Amino acid sequence: MGSNVTFRSKIGLVAATVGSAVGLGNIWRFPAETQANGGAAFLLIYILCVAVLGLPLMLGEFAIGRAAGSDPISDYKRLSPGSRWWMIGITGILAAYVILCFYTVVAGWTLEYLVDSVSGSLYAATVAGGAEPYKVIMEQNITSDLKPVIFSIILILANGAILLGGVQKGIERISNLMMPLLFLLLLVFCVASLTMPGAGAGMKFFLTPDFSKVTASTVINAMGQAFFSLSLGMGVLMTYSAYFPKDTRLGKTSVIVAGCDMLVAIMMGVIIFPAIMTFGLEGETFEGASLVFVTMPEIFAHMPMPQLWSTLFFLLLLVAALTSTISISEVAVRFLQDRFKMTRRKAVILVMLPLFLLSPICSLANGSLSDIQLFGLTIFGMMDFFATNILLPLGALLMALYYIFAAPKGLLRNELTNNGLIKAPYAALVEMLIKWVAPVLILIIFVCTFIKF
Ligand code: ALA
Repeated sequence: MGSNVTFRSKIGLVAATVGSAVGLGNIWRFPAETQANGGAAFLLIYILCVAVLGLPLMLGEFAIGRAAGSDPISDYKRLSPGSRWWMIGITGILAAYVILCFYTVVAGWTLEYLVDSVSGSLYAATVAGGAEPYKVIMEQNITSDLKPVIFSIILILANGAILLGGVQKGIERISNLMMPLLFLLLLVFCVASLTMPGAGAGMKFFLTPDFSKVTASTVINAMGQAFFSLSLGMGVLMTYSAYFPKDTRLGKTSVIVAGCDMLVAIMMGVIIFPAIMTFGLEGETFEGASLVFVTMPEIFAHMPMPQLWSTLFFLLLLVAALTSTISISEVAVRFLQDRFKMTRRKAVILVMLPLFLLSPICSLANGSLSDIQLFGLTIFGMMDFFATNILLPLGALLMALYYIFAAPKGLLRNELTNNGLIKAPYAALVEMLIKWVAPVLILIIFVCTFIKF
């Protein structure tokens, strides 16, 4: 079934899928959530969420994607012909596209900061006044009507160029290059951070659980973080697993992907907390974009060779963002290819074209269009909320219902055991978690999100 394209090697397959998972979610959101929610207390809850919710849902998506071998809509059509379950796929494809609109904007900021780091303009007026200058610079960078739009368009073009290369020569090749670079950069930063004077205090903060800070919303945030970070519910895992060869061990792959994703989040904690303790920045809160675009430049400004460190950091961020953007775009590309029998070239162009309008609108939502608001959210905020808080959990909930009511008998077990060729003693547990635990947890997320909203 489906096209016969697969990833060329196991390493490439893992690199691409880890590349999709590791993104701005790990680097930006995780340390901010950890800071606000009691250090290791958040980490522990997050690990639990990944184990109980993230891994089973990932396997659920892998099983559907590889068994059917197509895009998220056609997958359901192939597995349950004549039914309407294919409509679940709409949530995934829509989520991916909406996320793409604002993700390219944020990825564009990282490119802008990378360029400003290389040129040195970010550190031209050396900082004496704490975070203030970087707050002002961030405001200017993000709210300007032209610069962020230009950078997000460059990002979209780069993204399109990689996708045009195809699964093996585009996605896989770039992931094989970028993932080792990402881990190397992370390692360099970890070593630098752990040799700072505040390393002990920083690690103590990170690794000491403060359960007094844990509330219901901590758990909700941890679940949301698991969804976003593992690329769940956005059709990405189904789309990529359609490129998995039939002998890929799905259980092992899911543990490696979730493990690497977690490792990157933890490494970010190891990088950030010693640094903020060293420079006495622990009082700053990392709301929104301020951790990466205010606090980090402030840290670099205190270090010798700020330009170099800053360049390496924003390169790291860009690599993480780009490999995620590629995977998120591939969802719609694959859909157009399979559903409308388009060539890859045509599909990539059709997916990229609307972004030249939608991504600038998202960008302008922080500038000239910031007055357009609904429920206190700008267009950017609305898209983020709609995709992250509604579509992702909704897609996962519907998939769980599909497993309960309609999935072909033995689908999950067959995929986890490669049709009986390997052992997967955990299959029954995974099935139970998808069918009975995930729906309950997701419904709780929904109720709490609406109460909070
Ligand atoms: N999983 C991707 C991220 O964390 C979308 O940024």
